[in-house]
Amino acid sequence: MEVETIRQRKSAYCLVVAVASFLGALVYLSSCAPATERKPGGRKNCADCHTKFADKYLAMKSSHTAVKEGKCEDCHLRHGLVPKSILKRQGNDLCYACHPREKIGMDKP
Ligand code: HEC
Ligand code: HEC
Ligand code: HEC
Repeated sequence: MEVETIRQRKSAYCLVVAVASFLGALVYLSSCAPATERKPGGRKNCADCHTKFADKYLAMKSSHTAVKEGKCEDCHLRHGLVPKSILKRQGNDLCYACHPREKIGMDKP
């Protein structure tokens, strides 16, 4: 009777150890796995999440060069956990950063 419970306890202990070391090995191995392509610092690219946006715009025959080249951050600021549109500049000023006012005729009244 006494011996039986000890044996049961022992095997239960063995099971716990086995499971724990299996999980440990899993965590260890996954930490060795090749890092997925990410920008240094662990940040994702905009298009990694905005796949719908990317599919839609990059498939278009003509799209803005800056968009095509994936230079999203020339116009947008990164949003954090609150996902909303934050542009670097307001209104037309956004465009003037790359397109001088005079060149696109916006200097005329
Ligand atoms: C970790 C995933 C993730 C990354 C990386 C990410 N976004 Fe988002 N973003 C979201 C989600 C989720 C939303 C909210 C749902 C939606 O509108 O698609 C959102 C919303 C937005 C919106 C507002 C859309 C609207 O209709 O108002 C803009 C603009 C935007 N993201 C731009 C960017 C840009 C530019 C980058 C890169 C600098 C970026 N996001 C990187 C997940 C991400
Ligand atoms: C030349 C400047 C510019 C570039 C480059 C640019 N955007 Fe935008 N984007 C805008 C403007 C302007 C809006 C409209 C914002 C508004 O109406 O508040 C917009 C809107 C968006 C929206 C919300 C509207 C929608 O159609 O879903 C998303 C998402 C977005 N941009 C993602 C991106 C991503 C991803 C990239 C890079 C591949 C990118 N943008 C590059 C200027 C730009
Ligand atoms: C990050 C830089 C950048 C910003 C910001 C930017 N553009 Fe552009 N845009 C370009 C580049 C690069 C080209 C292609 C080269 C060229 O033809 O000058 C271009 C081309 C264009 C063209 C086609 C012109 C042509 O001669 O073929 C239009 C129209 C245009 N942009 C409008 C806008 C508007 C509107 C905004 C503001 C929402 C804006 N751009 C903001 C970089 C930018």
